[in-house]
Amino acid sequence: MRLIVTKLSVGLWSAAYIKNAIRSFAPTEHKPFVLGLPTGSTVLDMYAILRTFAQERLRSFQHVITFNMDEYIGLPTDHPQSYHRYMYQNLFSGVHMRPDHIFIPNGQAPDLVAECNRYESSIARVGGIRLLIGGIGRNGHIAFNEPGTAFNSRTHVVDLSASTREANARFFQNNVSRVPPQAITIGIGTILDAKELLFIASGVKKAAAVSHLITHEPTLDWPLTALKLHPHATLLADLEACVLLGGTVKTRLDEAQQADPHAEQWSINLEDL
Ligand code: GLP
Repeated sequence: MRLIVTKLSVGLWSAAYIKNAIRSFAPTEHKPFVLGLPTGSTVLDMYAILRTFAQERLRSFQHVITFNMDEYIGLPTDHPQSYHRYMYQNLFSGVHMRPDHIFIPNGQAPDLVAECNRYESSIARVGGIRLLIGGIGRNGHIAFNEPGTAFNSRTHVVDLSASTREANARFFQNNVSRVPPQAITIGIGTILDAKELLFIASGVKKAAAVSHLITHEPTLDWPLTALKLHPHATLLADLEACVLLGGTVKTRLDEAQQADPHAEQWSINLEDL
């Protein structure tokens, strides 16, 4: 696994990465680029920059298929805090995509288990996710896979933990009771099946999760540690998200910063440590 620490905005870095990944893949109608997408505040800048890019190159998303990671159960798609609404507001309204290229779990499906299976089949039908972008929860959740979730889990219904509902209450008038108690999420197995993973951590609130990822062996207690099992995974973090790093990684990072204080980013291969 690779750790990239950037002094710049993680939004700029990740948007440029996605843009280049799509460009170099040169997608066509018969060879679409399949992109996995998260929600959350960490990636708002990334979406804003992608929208700007799409305005300059109108056809940049023409052959892109997107799969969102999760959705609350029970929120209408036009609810201000539904992930459907979030995605249309922050990305889809500003890029030219075919509506049938946009996939988001339906949290209002009458049969939620059937909906989870349908979602997995839709991913499989397009040949799997090529590049999956993710955020991380303060408790180390990825998508909405809470601590304890099996690493081979597929798309499923999840009971959100108290800490996740508290963290997300800020979007629901700071009222925890308004945060839906359940969600549909792609599984950790679904995430690990993607060809490439880019997860993003920004700010001091993510520092504990980042430190667990870097210093611990994969453990169900910290779902994001599953990323270490993937052959092509990157964690992109800003300096604040790295403040709790210790040990060899911290030493490596300090050395790299001293060697080139003007660098905008530093990359460490965790397998080399
Ligand atoms: C929610 C989403 C996750 C996201 C996390 C982080 O819980 N389901 O996919 O990674 O929020 O959000 P933020 O970026 O707002 O900290």
